[in-house]
Amino acid sequence: SPSTRNCRPAMKTQTKMTLILCSLLPLCASGVQAENIALKITKRYLNFPVSHGQERGRMTFETEGEPALSVAIRLAPEEADYWVFRDVSALEGKTVRIAYDGDPRGLGKIYQSDRIAGQDSLYREKNRPQFHFTTRRGWINDPNGLVFHDGEYHLFYQHNPYEREWQNMHWGHAVSKDLVHWEELPDALFPDGLGTMYSGSAVIDCANTAGFSRDGTPALVAVYTAAGPERQVQCVAYSLDNGRTFTKYAGNPVIDSRDKWNSKDTRDPKVFWYAPAGHWVLVLNERDGHSIYTSPDLKRWTYESHVTGFWECPELFELPVDGDPGNTKWVMYGASGTYMLGSFDGRVFRPESGKHRYTSGSIYAAQTYTNIPAADGRRIQIGWGRISHPGMPFKGMMTMPTELTLRTTKDGVRLVSTPVAELDRLFRPLGEWRELTAEEAGRRLEEFGTADRLRIRTTIELSHATDASLTLSGQPLVAYDMNHNTLNGRFYSPQDPTSMRLTADIYIDRTSVEVFIDGGLYSYSMERRPEAGNDRGFRFRGKRIRVCDLEVFSVESIWQPE
Ligand code: FRU
Repeated sequence: SPSTRNCRPAMKTQTKMTLILCSLLPLCASGVQAENIALKITKRYLNFPVSHGQERGRMTFETEGEPALSVAIRLAPEEADYWVFRDVSALEGKTVRIAYDGDPRGLGKIYQSDRIAGQDSLYREKNRPQFHFTTRRGWINDPNGLVFHDGEYHLFYQHNPYEREWQNMHWGHAVSKDLVHWEELPDALFPDGLGTMYSGSAVIDCANTAGFSRDGTPALVAVYTAAGPERQVQCVAYSLDNGRTFTKYAGNPVIDSRDKWNSKDTRDPKVFWYAPAGHWVLVLNERDGHSIYTSPDLKRWTYESHVTGFWECPELFELPVDGDPGNTKWVMYGASGTYMLGSFDGRVFRPESGKHRYTSGSIYAAQTYTNIPAADGRRIQIGWGRISHPGMPFKGMMTMPTELTLRTTKDGVRLVSTPVAELDRLFRPLGEWRELTAEEAGRRLEEFGTADRLRIRTTIELSHATDASLTLSGQPLVAYDMNHNTLNGRFYSPQDPTSMRLTADIYIDRTSVEVFIDGGLYSYSMERRPEAGNDRGFRFRGKRIRVCDLEVFSVESIWQPE
């Protein structure tokens, strides 16, 4: 599409100026026929052209004194679909040898610059979400290493910097001071001899139990899965500069449990400090459920127990019920978010109820923050939004940060999720109306039908109707069927089961929609499909429904373009 083609660099001649050695000789050391070039790094970025018409080839970077890096990339021999980049500022002055076993014609197009190709339109691209985190280039999935430290919220994430599809897992990195505005930093963890960098978590080792800290600055410790072709093993890396650079622990891997489970699926360690027993807890998905390990020092781990019934991306945390610190429950979930409630004694999780569902749709692999100051005390969650952005050189996004609480409901204690209060500053009221018919409400929304982002809060009441909906361009944002008790296809019954009312808080971005029902008792997310139907704009439907309340807010962009 034209918007991605703009990403081509204007000055092709730059390529030649920055190539100091261009041998283009076959490199046969690895037995693979590969062409190679050498570049002396004088600029911040290496820019690479990508074409999805090409098969992936293997590209290897070798720099003296640095670990080698090997990635798969579809280097464009001719026209690029878009450009990707590697931040090489840490290699300044050094010579990087780049070998590629795919079509070698693209090698000569790689160029250095202090700007990424497409920098001019960064964050202003047509389908760039405006209040959700996305990466500048490439693919993202799970949030990783969510930790608050020194006034910064860290958001690490599964990142393929070299293409907008899943591959080459690195840990990408962004930071925020307010959970709203994010700054993307260079990638934090790179594939190595043990494998690619799969999901994991991060903690602050305040008591220096691992001994990584030298001058009293507590280490930020990332615990992650290295995924090799045969095994998925658990590893540790630490940072003494607020996550900007990491050193991998020389004793890695710290857990290798493939043989115990006779399964390759052992991954996604979630670590936290369990104060009552004074030890670290690691929850690991192994084969068919979540295992608990404990450790005094983040390096030596002892297996304790296992709960079957979960897949990928474990979470385990304690929450007060109805805000009462004297009455708490532990929440355990996996990647889909369906959860069990129970008790935890530092070694064993005992399920008491579940599984329950609090959210559905595009969200997956959600994780919560560690090290939130006690005075704040919130359990803050971010999930991967499985959302595509048509024509863009990036894919996937993070869902809005939400606060999780436990509330007593008619069905028992349940998890509730609401967008964090920090997001409020993005919304400006544009109008509020009460007691409207469906037609009147539709007319009020007419002028917003083409808005690229909007928040709508509404309470709908059914009376003569068994169902009611609000659609945008034919796409159901809220579709409630009182007869079958379904809401956008899944069972839902309001707190007062005789109630005919439903409240929806709807966050519409350029490519996604997130909906929070009845104060967060249930939520769901979806791709926004502007071409879903023949209808244009918003439309309320339902036989003689009442729109009791309708509020519309503008949404400020979180990106401050340079
Ligand atoms: C979940 C997941 C994790 C894994 C990661 C790899 O989306 O499959 O289990 O660590 O993605 O990118």
